Amino acid sequence: MGLQANESVWKGWWWLSLNFMWRLERQSKLLAILAFFGGIALAQGDEQATEPSIAEAGERVASQCAECHGEGGRSQTRDVPSIAGFSMLATMELLDTYRRGLREARTVELPDGTKTDMVEVVDSLSNADEWAVVIYYANQQWQPHEQPFDADLARQGAEIHAEKCDRCHYDGGRDPESDLPISAGQWREYLVAEFDNFDSGRRAMSDKMREKYDTLSAAEKRAIIELYVSAGEY
Ligand code: HEC
Ligand code: HEC
Repeated sequence: MGLQANESVWKGWWWLSLNFMWRLERQSKLLAILAFFGGIALAQGDEQATEPSIAEAGERVASQCAECHGEGGRSQTRDVPSIAGFSMLATMELLDTYRRGLREARTVELPDGTKTDMVEVVDSLSNADEWAVVIYYANQQWQPHEQPFDADLARQGAEIHAEKCDRCHYDGGRDPESDLPISAGQWREYLVAEFDNFDSGRRAMSDKMREKYDTLSAAEKRAIIELYVSAGEY
């Protein structure tokens, strides 16, 4: 009984905080997150004897993600994105796009024959697990995948990116501080698939990104993909 009451108080509080946070602008969101973790630290002080630490919980949850996203979020599969080093906000918002039906998920078959996708994964996460795993990936190091690329095309991509995309995807898509997915050094196969998904509408994008994205020709999109694949090393 005591435990159940505790849990529902915890969940109610969590939902309030989260709903509140999504209404805030980026900077205020970060402040809200800091306040939130102050809360968790206090709560943990009370429960330390029974509750696993956030770091342990993060590792436990991430071991499920690793089946597709690789150890520590470094994917060994070219059509599954690496997610190591994505900022907390980036991962939270990405998980939320599946929850809100803004992004279709591809079904993946695991080695043991079971099939699942990101929508099922997100639905299976408790609130506490989601926080823990988001922190876990923010603490990993992004390592670009080394892949062959066309340097001239990547340079063209860099110019277009600087003009149209860098405002949000800082530093050619390299900087986790943008609080967006890191794209520099991401797998080519995954990037090509996501550009296709944006083009076909299987994946939604914000109006502000669309304003810029829709001005790109097919050749310009190829150049930007080349820039990302080069990881800025053109
Ligand atoms: C069965 C395989 C599978 C599992 C398990 C899985 N993912 Fe994914 N994940 C994918 C695939 C495939 C994509 C990209 C394409 C899509 O949406 O289908 C993706 C996309 C993502 C993205 C978006 C990345 C980006 O650059 O946009 C995030 C974040 C993510 N997953 C986090 C997680 C977390 C956290 C877990 C564990 C709790 C997890 N995933 C478990 C297969 C998986
Ligand atoms: C106003 C800000 C903004 C601008 C400008 C912008 N984007 Fe984005 N971009 C976003 C956001 C926000 C997301 C995350 C969308 C989501 O959560 O599904 C995103 C996601 C992406 C992704 C998906 C990466 C992944 O791993 O999931 C790609 C690729 C991308 N943008 C390319 C571009 C390109 C190319 C341009 C320039 C033509 C551009 N964006 C301009 C805000 C922007």
